Amino acid sequence: MGELAVEKHVEYILAVEKRKDSFESVVMDHLRLNGAYWGLTTLDLLGKLDTVNADEVISWIMKCQHESGGFAGNIGHDPHILYTVSAVQVLALFNKLDVLDIDKVATYITGLQNEDGSFSGDMWGEVDTRFSYIAICCLSILRRLDKINVEKAVNYIVSCKNLDGGFGCTPGGESHAGQIFCCVGALAITGSLHHVDKDLLGWWLCERQVKSGGLNGRPEKLPDVCYSWWVLSSLIMIDRVHWIDKGKLFKFILDCQDVENGGISDRPDDAVDVFHTYFGVAGLSLLEYPGLKAIDPAYALPVDVVNRIFFSADN
Ligand code: FPP
Ligand code: ZN
Repeated sequence: MGELAVEKHVEYILAVEKRKDSFESVVMDHLRLNGAYWGLTTLDLLGKLDTVNADEVISWIMKCQHESGGFAGNIGHDPHILYTVSAVQVLALFNKLDVLDIDKVATYITGLQNEDGSFSGDMWGEVDTRFSYIAICCLSILRRLDKINVEKAVNYIVSCKNLDGGFGCTPGGESHAGQIFCCVGALAITGSLHHVDKDLLGWWLCERQVKSGGLNGRPEKLPDVCYSWWVLSSLIMIDRVHWIDKGKLFKFILDCQDVENGGISDRPDDAVDVFHTYFGVAGLSLLEYPGLKAIDPAYALPVDVVNRIFFSADN
């Protein structure tokens, strides 16, 4: 088993950030704020956040804010809760939440809660438990959870629970590890994990580990590095992470590295991207890989950042 190619991954992330006219950047243009969160959180976990110019990043992020208070994926695009959480997370990484008009952002998110407790992603109304998680995570970071009906939000998430112990996008939707992360994360943040059948869900989640050691997102699917995050974080939140073979997962993630040019792919020998690089490094952090900063499984931010938000003297 090789080692984590830290310097190569740092070079890869910094190069993607500079290559704004590359194919990947053009295709991902509307996702740039999400890309910034993936790339910058990776750098922070690797202890290299100081290699980027924080003022430039913050000034660009603030240009992505819409008059409604929500953030778009890039300047001039439409706001969506998916980009709003990335903006809040990146500002938290840089300890710059104070540049925000917090009540304005909170008002945008609060306005997306529906009568049944669910959340829409934007003004067009698509409902998904991903958006419940984002709303709860974001408002918690902004210390404004009291602005929504938390009880209804939790009841909606519970209504998306399936007989296999997992959760889907909407009531009756198939269990999917990405949605399980969202639902378990939202329940963890709101102190509602008693709604989870931990043994049943833990069993479903640990069955996601396949022969190669990698994890998949649903039965019969191929393993994928990003599920190292969605599955592992959920197992940690329900205290069942000892049910998977950590050594085999270590090997799978490290086998997905491009050790020459940096970056991590979804599966060994595929093309690397920033999304899988982040979730690979975040997965290794959850597995306590030596030298990496610890990451919080519910907030998807380094533990020191979360501690600063909730326990620092000026908050
Ligand atoms: C799989 O996506 C992942 C999900 C459905 C969960 C996505 C969660 C969020 C966007 C919430 C914010 C997350 C963080 C970490 C702050 P996929 O489209 O790759 O699924 P597939 O493997 O079925 O294609
Ligand atoms: Zn993936």
